[in-house]
Amino acid sequence: MDAYNITVVGGAGIVGREFLKIIDERQIPVGRLRLLATARSAGKTVEFRGETITIEETTPESFREDDDIVFLSASGSASREYAPIARDKGCFVIDDSSAFRMDPEVPLVIPEVNPEDLDWHKGIVSQPNCTTTPMVMALAPIHRDNPLKRIVVSTYQAVAGAGAAAVDGLESETRAALEGRHENSGTQKREIAFNAVPQIDVFDEGGYTKEELKMANETRKILHSQDIGISATCVRIPTFFGHSMAVWAEFANPVDPAEARKLIGTQQGIRVVDDPASEQYPTPMDAAGNDEVLVGRIRTDASTPGGLTFWCVTDSIRKGAATNVVQVIEEADRRGVIRR
Ligand SMILES: NC(=O)c1ccc[n+]([C@@H]2O[C@H](COP(=O)([O-])OP(=O)(O)OC[C@H]3O[C@@H](n4cnc5c(N)ncnc54)[C@H](OP(=O)(O)O)[C@@H]3O)[C@@H](O)[C@H]2O)c1
Repeated sequence: MDAYNITVVGGAGIVGREFLKIIDERQIPVGRLRLLATARSAGKTVEFRGETITIEETTPESFREDDDIVFLSASGSASREYAPIARDKGCFVIDDSSAFRMDPEVPLVIPEVNPEDLDWHKGIVSQPNCTTTPMVMALAPIHRDNPLKRIVVSTYQAVAGAGAAAVDGLESETRAALEGRHENSGTQKREIAFNAVPQIDVFDEGGYTKEELKMANETRKILHSQDIGISATCVRIPTFFGHSMAVWAEFANPVDPAEARKLIGTQQGIRVVDDPASEQYPTPMDAAGNDEVLVGRIRTDASTPGGLTFWCVTDSIRKGAATNVVQVIEEADRRGVIRR
């Protein structure tokens, strides 16, 4: 693999830091690494492969023609401002925010599911929401031969999905609550310690939150199937790492759970942990720090003839974000589509 010059916007964030760790774990050759953030983190240093890298403040002038890859891992507004600038400098831009996910000119890629979409990128590649990726990975191997008709999904999402401040927020709220105090950190829509909050992001006029609509719209885009009916309920729970979800799915033809277990098990990046007899199923703690999507509790949906239901967990900052980005770099390199 070529040694690319990589620039990370949001290099001091929870995903940005995990990205550096994974680059190292997977021994990705790096030419020159630059880390950008806001004035808050500018001047702080990060060690990477024996080198001390000083974080710089991001400005429109930060992007250069010798940046082969720019990873935007900051916020939607930062992505909307900087992605076009970096793209116009000829950089291969990977965006982790929701800013470009539904843009028809921008591929939305899970390398194990739709790597071919990298071939038509026009400078920006987007990366799915951290709940979309595991669900689509589990459903794709069945959908390939037996098209999905309908999905109902309920999520149980860890605070790490909302960034470094939200991890600190759960910690401080929990300490306070154990001492009998309610000290809302303001990092979620309600106090999160010992609670469950059925709102992630803002509501639309139909009563769904943006997070729920992301799951629906992104799933249809990645699977190239606009007619899948999808209803999601996304809930923040007081776990630190690891998003979970219960999925109910209906396909064109009835699905046998044993066959589904076999198909899901063949999907690269998924490990089936499913043995009710010995009480084996995955939990968020099993997913934390790992790259695999873990799937269990695979069974017939008792409410729908031929339907399927299962439980799925993944680490939102790894396969839900940073690992997927590193895999996009690896796949784009294999396809020769990084340098335009
Ligand atoms: N956490 C997850 O599980 C997850 C999963 C999928 C996608 N994402 C997406 O990944 C991105 C980063 O999330 P995160 O969880 O890593 O958040 P985070 O821990 O809050 O880190 C955000 C980073 O972005 C920097 N930043 C924020 N606004 C900026 C701006 N206008 N210009 C330049 N830098 C800016 C921050 O700088 P300072 O250090 O200076 O504050 C910080 O380094 C977001 O778009 C998020 O939606 C996150």
